[in-house]
Amino acid sequence: MPIDTLPDAAGYRPADPFAGPDHPIRIITREIALEGRWDISVRQRIADTFDRLAPDWSEDHVNPTKAAPVRDAVERGGIELGDIRLLELGSGTGAGGKVLATFITEYVAFDLSAEMIRNDQALQTSQVRGDASVLPFVDDSFDVVMCINMFLFPDQVDRVLRPNGTLLWVNTMGDQTPIHLPVHDVVKALPGEWNAVTANAGTGLWATVRRAAL
Ligand SMILES: C[S@@+](CC[C@H](N)C(=O)[O-])C[C@H]1O[C@@H](n2cnc3c(N)ncnc32)[C@H](O)[C@@H]1O
Repeated sequence: MPIDTLPDAAGYRPADPFAGPDHPIRIITREIALEGRWDISVRQRIADTFDRLAPDWSEDHVNPTKAAPVRDAVERGGIELGDIRLLELGSGTGAGGKVLATFITEYVAFDLSAEMIRNDQALQTSQVRGDASVLPFVDDSFDVVMCINMFLFPDQVDRVLRPNGTLLWVNTMGDQTPIHLPVHDVVKALPGEWNAVTANAGTGLWATVRRAAL
């Protein structure tokens, strides 16, 4: 499974201990990606949790440290901005949109939580509320799917990404992020063969993941 690890970005510092491998959200994150665990009760619990967190999310979570891995992925991870369609899954209150939305043709922010969408402060072209386990988009419709601290629904990412598309995976506190998957698990979870380029930046990590056979 080819994973190319680049040197740490300038200024990288590991996150302080926060959510180790036994954190309940870490366990759910693994189960969703690798075992397909997702049902109505999990969905409701996650939606309620993030609805509750939404009003304070930007103040607590949308900051330059969070932007650093996204910026570094664009610089070193081979993401061409400009005339592309990008889908951000679990877009929250717009941490990713603030960094990228003005540089690309179409930016779609997608989130399960109505309150997160209501509090989204980014300049985005469109916002869609829904469940990333059943994406309301046709096959092969996005050049980039971005997940910042978001659960991975591998079959849906594979379905909506164009053949030469890129999954941009970001954990802004690296392996201390509650919703974290190591890059080798991201690659393992996706159907078929994929390659990744990864690096540490800010206090976190990014990976650009692409199909091996084009
Ligand atoms: C940890 S927050 C990250 C928010 C944002 N990406 C950020 O970094 O600030 C996870 C987000 O994923 C959303 N989410 C969780 N499960 C989802 C699903 N199945 N479909 C769409 N969004 C989901 C939550 O509502 C929440 O906004």
